[in-house]
Amino acid sequence: MATAPRTPFIAGNWKMNLDHLQAIAFVQKLAWTLKDKNHDFGDVEVAVFPPFTDLRSVQTLIEGDKLELKFGAQDLSQHDAGAYTGEISGAFLAALDSAYVIIGHSERRQYHGETDELVAAKVAAAHRHGIVPVICVGETAEDLEQHGPSAVPVAQLRTALEGAAAGREIVVAYEPVWAIGSGQAATSAQAQQVCEALRAVIAEVQGDEAAAATRVLYGGSVKAGNIAGFLKEPDVDGALVGGASLQLEEFASIVRFKSHVGTL
Ligand code: PGA
Repeated sequence: MATAPRTPFIAGNWKMNLDHLQAIAFVQKLAWTLKDKNHDFGDVEVAVFPPFTDLRSVQTLIEGDKLELKFGAQDLSQHDAGAYTGEISGAFLAALDSAYVIIGHSERRQYHGETDELVAAKVAAAHRHGIVPVICVGETAEDLEQHGPSAVPVAQLRTALEGAAAGREIVVAYEPVWAIGSGQAATSAQAQQVCEALRAVIAEVQGDEAAAATRVLYGGSVKAGNIAGFLKEPDVDGALVGGASLQLEEFASIVRFKSHVGTL
């Protein structure tokens, strides 16, 4: 498949780490570090995904100081408003200028029983509010053994895309569950194989143009030492980074993967 110019995207999923004060300090330092190293945000886009209670502080900092970092939330409700105690509406995220929202992370699927249908409803909610969904898919070790490398993520994406509005941007993140937080990343060849299959699903459902424009990320134990290998693959357009996104120098180094000597 022809590769359109897709801006690489490095996304830091903080999970349930850093309160709003820590978030302010971290984002400031990240922005300074990248500025010091002359990072070109047009060349590699960078976003952080803090907990909900940090979002207002992060927004104020980014907008106030005109930082080129983007930010997003880690989840949203499929509903827009109403009696849903503890839920967060996409309307609220849009009011904070949240560019992105992670949907269907394996920890949500595993600990909160999120189904493919719910993920699709959340994708629809994100699009209703003009937020780009970062749709996470991935197989467990057991799935891999039983169904092979791409069957489960492909099926998950097919259902999730039922919620996507025509012509609206999505980001897809392939995150093998066995690679998340395990220190055992997929090989770049494994990531390429599944990311290619995911792009084929986008082509089938939304057409070739959308498939060529959509960024497909890899996630699962991404580090400064392995990022360049993933980004060499034609269908891997960036990374969703968990643990390493909380380490300032490590994350900045992941963002600057193009500068890794001799690796790209
Ligand atoms: P990890 O997490 O980088 O710590 O493996 C990735 C994720 O869960 O998004």
